[in-house]
Amino acid sequence: MAAGATWVGTSWKMTKTLAESVAYARALAAVDSSRWAGTQPFIIPPATALAAVRDTLGHQSQVLLGAQNAHWEDAGAWTGELSVPQVADAGARLVEIGHSERREHFGETDHTVNLKVRAALRHGVRPLVCVGESDQVFRSGGSVEHVRRQARAALAGVGDPSQVLIAYEPVWAIGAGGRSARPEDIAEVFAALRAEFGSAVEGLLYGGSVTLGNAAQTLKVPAVDGLFVGRAAWAVDDFIALLDHVSGLSA
Ligand code: PGA
Repeated sequence: MAAGATWVGTSWKMTKTLAESVAYARALAAVDSSRWAGTQPFIIPPATALAAVRDTLGHQSQVLLGAQNAHWEDAGAWTGELSVPQVADAGARLVEIGHSERREHFGETDHTVNLKVRAALRHGVRPLVCVGESDQVFRSGGSVEHVRRQARAALAGVGDPSQVLIAYEPVWAIGAGGRSARPEDIAEVFAALRAEFGSAVEGLLYGGSVTLGNAAQTLKVPAVDGLFVGRAAWAVDDFIALLDHVSGLSA
């Protein structure tokens, strides 16, 4: 990928059948991606569709593929789980770790996040670590401390974090019930992340109710290297429009 590129990606979460996933990938593959120079697109399908999406995009594709989760062990008696080697085998070159939905509903902790980050790096798969504070913490002024603690825990014992992406995703901004973050809401956290991790990690991304309408103002916040998008990129035409828009900003 191009150094200094703006990351723009989407997790499809628990949406899309195989046919829908392949149709999305086909539409994306039909676009001449040279028009996205300076941008690094990535998509994170459900695990059931990873291999099909990889095959549809083709091996020359600039679009990086990711998995939404992976276990820290390489193999074994972990019913229902997928390992990093398995998702990598299906096409994942990055793996999302510690999304707030996984922390809230599936018992993901700072400790398991750290184990997973190290497992990903062991296999040469980029960890995309999600961190973010609740509304309560935000309102009490504790965002920086909370996010810094989560990020430090995620990277504990990691000697070389140069393949790590960190996505700051305030819990209060994510999903249908979330409210869009204003640049002034997130600037302080990004300043703190840049001060501590900025030059060591591969990129700092923002996620949570990103839209075509607020992408430009978010990317203007110092230290924001990219956008991690949910709902606003689940339709392929919307994702393409967003990639065009972001590429136009840096042209
Ligand atoms: P959203 O999701 O863009 O739909 O708010 C973002 C995320 O959960 O990463």
